[in-house]
Amino acid sequence: MSNKKLVEVYNLKQYFPVSGGKLFQKKFVKAVDDVSFYINKGETLGLVGESGCGKTTTGRSILRLHEPTAGRIIYDGTDITRVNMLPYRRKMQIVFQDPYASLDPRMTVGDIVGEAIDIHKLAANKNERRERIIELLSLVGLNSEHANRYPHEFSGGQRQRVGIARALAVNPEFIVCDEPISALDVSIQAQVVNMFEELQEKMGLAYLFISHNLSVVKHISNRIGVMYLGKMVEMAESEELTFHSVHPYTRSLISALLVADPVVARNTNRIFLEGDVPSPLNPPSGCRFRTRCPYATEVCAAEEPEFKEVSPGHFAACHHIDKVQ
Ligand SMILES: Nc1ncnc2c1ncn2[C@@H]1O[C@H](COP(=O)(O)OP(=O)(O)O)[C@@H](O)[C@H]1O
Ligand SMILES: [Mg+2]
Repeated sequence: MSNKKLVEVYNLKQYFPVSGGKLFQKKFVKAVDDVSFYINKGETLGLVGESGCGKTTTGRSILRLHEPTAGRIIYDGTDITRVNMLPYRRKMQIVFQDPYASLDPRMTVGDIVGEAIDIHKLAANKNERRERIIELLSLVGLNSEHANRYPHEFSGGQRQRVGIARALAVNPEFIVCDEPISALDVSIQAQVVNMFEELQEKMGLAYLFISHNLSVVKHISNRIGVMYLGKMVEMAESEELTFHSVHPYTRSLISALLVADPVVARNTNRIFLEGDVPSPLNPPSGCRFRTRCPYATEVCAAEEPEFKEVSPGHFAACHHIDKVQ
């Protein structure tokens, strides 16, 4: 891993218009609302938070699969917020959550992987194409026999391997991994995580590794960002975040690990949240977490907390960091 920034995101906003409001009064889902972060070359940045907090939207906006409402995205020093993305599609890839929905059932695995090779003209002839497909399949633990089969002939884990081979076909530098193991059997999740790690080492890849499960993310990530209702609430190195988190929301996520990870949990005062996440159509004023926060006071409703550095490399947005224990 290097200290050179590969992806930089500044003040990213992604608002989706929704129908159903009053006439001429457009309402917006503020799926991502002013989020900034960076990912170094070869680094894994984990992104966690409950369902609906904006993780997928963040990942897709970086790749410009959504056009950002506001903010800037820098890739390897170049502002790509408004450029033609075709040259960058080779460098930035995505692996989807659902390996069942993301592979075309009418295409053979060889053609699924080969499609990217064709789009970017990465093989001079049929032989070279075939060799490259086999090489890619073997990188993800499949073999040449698998190339002529169809997705339905594979298990969930194998399908996810095909999805990864497809992403690798263009020799990317950066992959958004959007809950890539959430839909898989627990028994094979570790294998797939290990494969992501091996591929990273071999190919120097940087990952944005998205998961609703902190215990998955903390193993694979160098740093972790925690999102809540469209905002980044805390970010730090993996160890620092798991053992010295300062944001009550992060603390609650760690409390939930108690059974899975007793060592981490023993070092943390437990916080259990009540209620549901409020709607991103109508987020609470001030700190968005305040309606569920045991530390909330008036200032939390009146003012949005600044996302500031609380110790070197450790950022958090909370008015009551001193009180959280
Ligand atoms: N294309 C879209 N149109 C309208 N709302 C969307 C769209 N995509 C996501 N959302 C909304 O944005 C919020 C964040 O969604 P998402 O990024 O998928 O969260 P996560 O991946 O953390 O579960 C949710 O409230 C979701 O319903
Ligand atoms: Mg998601």
